[in-house]
Amino acid sequence: MPRIVVANDQSISEAAALLQAGEIVVLPTETVYGLGANALDSDAVSKIFKAKKRPSFNPLIVHVIDKQAASKLVEMDERAQKVADAFWPGPLTLILPRKENSGISDLVTAGLETLAVRVPSHKIMRKVMKEAGVPIAAPSANSSGEPSATTPQHVAQSLGDAAPFILAAGACDVGLESTVLDLSGEVPIILRPGAVTSEDLEPYLGQVEIDMGAHEKPQSEIKSPGQLLKHYAPKIPVRLHAVDVQQDEALLAFGSIKFMGMKAGGHVKDMPDTAFRNLSESGDLNEAAKNLFMMLRDLDKPEHKAIAVMDIPNQGIGVAMNERLQRAAKKYSPKDIK
Ligand code: TXA
Ligand code: MG
Repeated sequence: MPRIVVANDQSISEAAALLQAGEIVVLPTETVYGLGANALDSDAVSKIFKAKKRPSFNPLIVHVIDKQAASKLVEMDERAQKVADAFWPGPLTLILPRKENSGISDLVTAGLETLAVRVPSHKIMRKVMKEAGVPIAAPSANSSGEPSATTPQHVAQSLGDAAPFILAAGACDVGLESTVLDLSGEVPIILRPGAVTSEDLEPYLGQVEIDMGAHEKPQSEIKSPGQLLKHYAPKIPVRLHAVDVQQDEALLAFGSIKFMGMKAGGHVKDMPDTAFRNLSESGDLNEAAKNLFMMLRDLDKPEHKAIAVMDIPNQGIGVAMNERLQRAAKKYSPKDIK
């Protein structure tokens, strides 16, 4: 079993030392847990791909302590400076032209001319980064294709012994992965929606495009290789737009359940605790985002036929939640849910 070690001065130093020694370490961030390695060390980075069973064509995000450290790795134009000043540290990843001789392992970029950089705000993550003193490559700490993990226990469930050291700091605040913003071309494009929304970015950048459907395009047009994959999928089917619950389904609710019906009779409020979660009883989108992956994992049990999910308003961070849910549901066609 992996070691789940509560973060304190000693364990933070241990995590930093492991990173310096070329090992992989699970680290808390404000978005989701990350599986970190020294981004300058190809052997260390290769351990990430192996532990996650991640295809080598899918590049990683490099985490750095501040904008200055980022500007050593990538070309930061005026637009990048502006959004970095406004949103770093925080849940925003920038895709920018990479600088030559930055020392970043070629495995991190998967052969692309661009590099993804992010300055996380999580206190523990920042302490580890300061002590380690190297840029940290870190994808979400889950097996490739599964929902991201937002608690140390879910990391352990997903990766098992493949990630032997987990630096634990409770549930992640945001609960969804960072917004990925591509600034390598003329038009700013959101490749993955997150807590930083297009409305948040537009005052700094003018119009921002959102391109979340890139996985349906021909390979040559794909900007973010991660978009190719059917990400975020639980093991059992996910049924969206639920207005009722069918026999043997679990329910992931949002807001009031007053008008939810049960196909088999009875009341949703009497469903067993194991088959029912509410993302936010009060309809708070930030609370719901924080709970999304955690609750999907809670309900992802073989005794359930599917997870029925109520509609979530498509605004603010709701856009990002709906994108994750659509991908989770896409893995299955409606005929799979019998
Ligand atoms: O919140 C987050 O971003 C978390 C925490 C740990 O920081 N990390 C995370 O990493 O979600 P990952 O690897 O699970 O997702 C990174 C996404 C992938 O879809 C990948 O394809 C895309 O970013 N990406 C990375 N480098 C890219 C690049 N150079 N161009 C386009 N997309 C890139
Ligand atoms: Mg991921």
